[in-house]
Amino acid sequence: ALFFQQNEPRRKAVSVQHSEKSSQEIISGLTADPPHISPKYLYDELGSRLFTAITELPEYYPTRTEAQILKRHSLEIKQAVGATSTLIDLGAGDGEKATALFEPFQIKRYVAVDISAAFLQTSLARLQSRYPHVEMVAVEQDFSHSLHLPNEIGNDPRLFFYPGSSIGNFNPADALAFLQRVRAACPNGRLLIGVDLIKPADILERAYDDALQVTAAFNRNILRHINQLAQTNFNLHEWRHIALFNADESRIEMHLEATRGTTVTWPNGQRQFVAGERIHTENSYKWQTDAFATLLKQAGFNDCRHWSDDKNWFAVFVAQA
Ligand code: TRP
Repeated sequence: ALFFQQNEPRRKAVSVQHSEKSSQEIISGLTADPPHISPKYLYDELGSRLFTAITELPEYYPTRTEAQILKRHSLEIKQAVGATSTLIDLGAGDGEKATALFEPFQIKRYVAVDISAAFLQTSLARLQSRYPHVEMVAVEQDFSHSLHLPNEIGNDPRLFFYPGSSIGNFNPADALAFLQRVRAACPNGRLLIGVDLIKPADILERAYDDALQVTAAFNRNILRHINQLAQTNFNLHEWRHIALFNADESRIEMHLEATRGTTVTWPNGQRQFVAGERIHTENSYKWQTDAFATLLKQAGFNDCRHWSDDKNWFAVFVAQA
């Protein structure tokens, strides 16, 4: 597998600069009002593994419902996508979801884009041995602000794959900007995207606060990760996971709540938190199918079609760039 990094090959100076930049970003979020931590820090290696575990939980319906829709409507979806040979997987994770498309779409080149470099490399090495005839390219990139693909990807018709309702982690304005960037990177290509739909709050809240508390571990792991990156001294025992559905904003909100008053310190700074104070870590917006079709059109996509499950919990859209 080919491997591309967003930054220069790792020289000491580069990696130090990089971590200084992330500590500054982390500290400015922690000292803001209300305090927040960027969700990208959820996905270190352990976080990525915990997220894989979340997708297997009975309460977390999105992954499984999306897979069912893709399977049940595979012929129509294949027809809507048309001829393609290059699959570009945005936020590939372990790459498992994408493998379901390899055969039906006769994928010759698989481009896995993700923020977690180490995880991406191990995943692709494993996939490459299972699919020796698919050319695999790893791109380490935080594509939430800009999307740059290496020229080596070539000019065959591209299918962008953005599953799992990851689009819900953008607010509507940022989701529009993101979709516009994808369209620009996908001349004559197609987008296959999964979107989680609005449903009763109790079902949503359970999906983000499971009985086994894997999601709680996933959210709290962000503190362990930033303790490493920014030398903060969060005591994980003092923070609990909160997931609540904000109906006005149509989003699940994830927070970490201080269970008692505490002071968090880092080199040259500190912040006090009172009991009950919350740090915002992630939003997951839920859409109505009409509103999402409108968003795709606003981003410049045409021929939008979608498929859903019996309960209308999740939708898979195909759109032409
Ligand atoms: N893209 C996933 C979602 O919004 C991410 C996710 C699932 C998540 N569970 C979470 C993010 C818990 C933060 C905390 O469904």
